[in-house]
Amino acid sequence: MKALIPAAGHGTRFAPWTKLIPKEMLPIGARPAIALIVDEAIEAGADEVVIITSPEKPLLKKWFELNPPKAPVVWVDQLEQYGLGHAVLQAAEHFGAESDPVLILLGDALVSGGNASSAMMEISKANGGASVIGCEEVPRERVSRYGIMRSSSEIAEAFFKLADIVEKPAVEDAPSNLAVAGRYLLDPAVFRYLKDQTAGVGGEIQLTDAIRRMLAEKTVFGYIYPGHRHDIGNPNGYLKALEAMNENG
Ligand code: G1P
Repeated sequence: MKALIPAAGHGTRFAPWTKLIPKEMLPIGARPAIALIVDEAIEAGADEVVIITSPEKPLLKKWFELNPPKAPVVWVDQLEQYGLGHAVLQAAEHFGAESDPVLILLGDALVSGGNASSAMMEISKANGGASVIGCEEVPRERVSRYGIMRSSSEIAEAFFKLADIVEKPAVEDAPSNLAVAGRYLLDPAVFRYLKDQTAGVGGEIQLTDAIRRMLAEKTVFGYIYPGHRHDIGNPNGYLKALEAMNENG
């Protein structure tokens, strides 16, 4: 299994700090956030980690040159930025159509209190290798910041089959308060959908929109993974991540 970490964003919500230090390089104890995310992927079974970054962020590569992880890291540069779906598409050539599900970990989402990716792997294995999207319940008034899912059937308390998914819906249009939470285990067919995906919300190529189209072909599950996601792309989320990592690793 290969992992993919999109980490090319400009970090505008953490400016001006991020003009000097990429958000993925913010320290969590003695190591940068990206190193913890790479660890999570490798612990979950990734034997190669593809990191999508930009030439403006050489510190990420530098860190792993000085501190190699337990699996090879492959670097892909995203030269222009047209959204998360566009970022993921840049790495398509590294993922063959016949391969295992692709583990995608957003580079600014840290999970404390458990390995979300390992838990999702278990769920996928128990369901014939199907796609699994990590999710969390968010307050209704915040749904417009996330990809939001509609479940077709509840299988267990935290586990359901997806009927629909929509990126950043208005509160009144949101099908639920179940939000995409920074981790995906996706059938590689998603790359086929990304290739001709048109721009969606915010004029960006959205990964969510490609997953939505893939639902016609593939079964996708939603799963509220154990642990808490922290958005380190803003100062407050970063502080909360530090507190949580300090308490329970
Ligand atoms: C991205 C995804 C969104 C997801 C969110 C948190 O949005 O597009 O579906 O809910 O990450 O994982 P962004 O935070 O980049 O706007």
